Amino acid sequence: MKSISVIGSGTMGNGIAHVFAQHGYQVSLVDIQASQLEKALATISKNMDRQVSKGSLTEDEKKAALSRISTFTSVEKGVKSADLVVEAATENMTLKLDIFRQLDQFAPESAILATNTSSISITKIAAVTKRPGQVIGMHFMNPVPVMKLVEVIRGYATTDEVTEKIMELSSNLSKEPVEVNDYPGFVANRILMPMINEAIYSLYEGVAGVSEIDTVMKLGMAHPMGPLQLADFIGLDVCLSILRVLHEGFGNPKYAPCPLLVNMVEAGYKGVKTGEGFYQYTPGSKDLKLAPRFSK
Ligand code: NAI
Repeated sequence: MKSISVIGSGTMGNGIAHVFAQHGYQVSLVDIQASQLEKALATISKNMDRQVSKGSLTEDEKKAALSRISTFTSVEKGVKSADLVVEAATENMTLKLDIFRQLDQFAPESAILATNTSSISITKIAAVTKRPGQVIGMHFMNPVPVMKLVEVIRGYATTDEVTEKIMELSSNLSKEPVEVNDYPGFVANRILMPMINEAIYSLYEGVAGVSEIDTVMKLGMAHPMGPLQLADFIGLDVCLSILRVLHEGFGNPKYAPCPLLVNMVEAGYKGVKTGEGFYQYTPGSKDLKLAPRFSK
């Protein structure tokens, strides 16, 4: 595989494009918003500067990597010579099904179609294409250039050959791929989201405050970040939508999202991206400050 198309150039898409370009692949980065593509290129360049200053990339390697990325606002043009497409557009089922119909129509017949979805069924996405055996989950973690894991998710129809190719490709990106089957939340979010939800319930029921809950998990369980801070980092809206997928997919009330989480998302408090969740975020500041409503 030489030519990779990445659909969506937001948080995850720019990281995925960065890692492929750094490892010598030609990358076509596609987004419906031209401004988002510009922002993505600036972010990739800034993140590569950080690697240069740490000595893990040379200035020449950075230039070469950036020159391997082309940008497109049309899916049709962006995927026409792809060996692999990695879709990382907004987490919305209708949108993803529509994108996969387009990918199936415009990408070469031999191309593998992967999705970075956090929670949507790979099997369901594959079923809208004429090549379900070539559809697979390639779930990178945020921030992509830093995190080692790729959760490789086999849909019901994904072939052994396609799974092996994606496992090998992930290793070529210096990542650690782990193969899992397609059930709600896969493995990462099936385990992580109930923990985050339980942390929010502990706050909602007055068991302890925000910093107390996070401190217990950081110092007691050696987690680098407490679950409430992590929820802010992921995005509270994203956490809520994954919990809803788990709740609906298993029909088990243990996954029901905490009413406090629902209220916060409905009120627009979505964590880092909106400036406030359980904590308050000021651009440029690294201090972790409690959101006013959660400070004593
Ligand atoms: P984001 O909101 O930062 O970026 C999504 C991008 O998709 C935007 O730039 C938007 O303009 C673009 N887009 C929307 N419709 C499009 C279309 N039809 N064609 C091309 N581009 C389109 O979202 P983020 O956080 O990067 O998430 C992307 C995917 O990655 C989602 O499926 C999410 O569940 C998954 N994911 C997110 C993680 C995270 O920590 N944010 C972690 C792992 C997976």
